Amino acid sequence: MQSVTVIDHPLVQHKLTLMRDRTTSTAGFRMLLREIAHLLCYEVTRDIELETTDIETPMGPMTAPIIKGKKLVFASILRAGNGLLDGMLDLVPAARVAHIGVYRDHDTLEPIEYYFKAPGELENRLVIAVDPMLATGNSAIVAMERLKQRGANRIRFLCLLAAPEGIAKFTAAHPDIPIFTAAIDSRLNDKGYIVPGLGDAGDRMFGTK
Ligand code: URA
Repeated sequence: MQSVTVIDHPLVQHKLTLMRDRTTSTAGFRMLLREIAHLLCYEVTRDIELETTDIETPMGPMTAPIIKGKKLVFASILRAGNGLLDGMLDLVPAARVAHIGVYRDHDTLEPIEYYFKAPGELENRLVIAVDPMLATGNSAIVAMERLKQRGANRIRFLCLLAAPEGIAKFTAAHPDIPIFTAAIDSRLNDKGYIVPGLGDAGDRMFGTK
């Protein structure tokens, strides 16, 4: 069953507003993205399974909780996904990382894949795919197809902003993948940008405009 979770924590919403503001600098945007990624990572991993391990504290033996199973995979949809990835890795430094290069043709808005590299045993790992913007959904849908072809069967999709059009399309293509987002905006414009959105996430984090 697919679901959409809006992460409405006040700190997330506050930082998101600062990121939307066009006067926020590249450095400020990047810093906020890293900070908000910490909070989003916390929420998207909230229910992952634990097991116990036996350790010795300075005071004596203890059976203590630890994350169960093989290392998580964070799958960054290039290039904007890397901004979220950095903050996620701050919180889960042992996570494995996949990179998926999909860009949108500016005229057709169709996704074109140019890179894919992922760790092994995806079938035994929880994969959290990250891309700040779920706009048309086209790139995300292709990226999820590639992850599934490589064996991934437990995937969550994490973004900062989602358009209703993108959610509908993604949900239809991948009803098994839950979406986590900080906000659902009004609509897409005719160039496939989210409105009111925050502009081009990649340009804003890398200063390429
Ligand atoms: N990608 C972006 O960076 N921004 C949008 O609004 C849509 C897609």
